[in-house]
Amino acid sequence: MGRVSLSGKVAVITGSSRGIGKAIAIDLAKQGVSIVLNGRNQERLNEAKLAVEKIHTKVITVCCDISEKGAGKNLIKTAVDHFGKLDILVNNVGVSNRGNVGEVDPEVFEKVFASNLFSAVNPTITAIPELRKTKGSIVFISSLAGIRGIPGMSAYCSSKMALRAVAESIRLEEKANNIHVGLVFVGITQIEHNKEAISADGSMQILEKRDGKKGVQSMEYVAGVVTKNIQKRKFIYTLTGIGKLNSFMQARFPMLVEKIILKNLHKFEERRQ
Ligand SMILES: NC(=O)c1ccc[n+]([C@@H]2O[C@H](COP(=O)([O-])OP(=O)(O)OC[C@H]3O[C@@H](n4cnc5c(N)ncnc54)[C@H](OP(=O)(O)O)[C@@H]3O)[C@@H](O)[C@H]2O)c1
Repeated sequence: MGRVSLSGKVAVITGSSRGIGKAIAIDLAKQGVSIVLNGRNQERLNEAKLAVEKIHTKVITVCCDISEKGAGKNLIKTAVDHFGKLDILVNNVGVSNRGNVGEVDPEVFEKVFASNLFSAVNPTITAIPELRKTKGSIVFISSLAGIRGIPGMSAYCSSKMALRAVAESIRLEEKANNIHVGLVFVGITQIEHNKEAISADGSMQILEKRDGKKGVQSMEYVAGVVTKNIQKRKFIYTLTGIGKLNSFMQARFPMLVEKIILKNLHKFEERRQ
C-alpha cells in the first residue's frame, strides 16, 4: 500500500509536551494534521504548542494525567468537541524502571503499569467509536524492551508486552470497522534533559544524557517512522538493525538470545543509566 495523505486529519498524541511525543506531534503537523497535545505540566505543554504553531495554528493542549480513570474520556472528548472528529490516536506516554525483580518495591509495577498500560487503554476505549467513523489509526509506542524480558527492567518490559496484546486484540475486534492499529518498537533514542525513570524503591531517578552515544536514534527519526506507519497503515515496525535481529532471533532461537544476554550482562548494567 502507498502512503495515505494525512492532510486535514486530527491527531491526539499522549505525552507530547516533550521527547518523542512532541517530535511525533511536530512531524504530523508538517503533514497538515491538527494536533491535540497532552501532558501533566501546562508550562511544558505551552512550549510544545509554540513549537507546533511554527508549522500551523491548529493545535490545542489538554493538561491531564492520562493514567487516571476518566482522563482518557476527557482527552478524546475535548479533541472531538474542538476539531469535530478524531483520525489518529498515538499512545506514547511511557516510563521505564530500574532494578531487578528481587529488589523492587511492588509499587514500581503499579506505577509502571499505570503509566504504560492504563495511559494507553484509557484514551483508546473512548477513541474507538470515533475512529470507527473516520476509519482512523491507533498507534502504540512500544520499545525493544517489549520484545523479551531483559534484566533490571522487568516492569517496563512486561508493561510494553501488554501493549502488544491490546494491539492484537483491537486489530481483530475492529478489522471489520477498518481501524488501523500500529505497534512501533522503538530502540534507544535521544532524551530530553531531566528525563526520569522509576528506581527500585519507587522514587524517580534522572537518566544520564545520551548525546553522542553510539546507536542512539534521534527523536525526529522515530517520529518519521511513526508517521510512515500511519500513512502506510502497517501493524508492526521495529526500529534499528539490532531491534530487527533481536525480534527475529527471539521468535526462533529464544535460548540462544538468553545465552547472549547472560554473556553480556555488564552491558545491560551500563545501559540502565
Ligand atoms: N527514549 C527512549 O530511548 C525510548 C526507547 C524506547 C521506547 N520509548 C518509548 O517512547 C515513549 C516516549 O518516551 P520519551 O523518552 O520521549 O519520554 P519522556 O521524555 O519522559 O516524555 C514523556 C512525555 O509524556 C508525558 N507524560 C508522562 N506521563 C504522563 C501521564 N501520566 N499523563 C500525561 N502525560 C504524561 C511527559 O510530560 P509530563 O512529565 O509533563 O507529564 C512527556 O511529555 C515512551 O512510551 C517510551 O517507553 C522511548
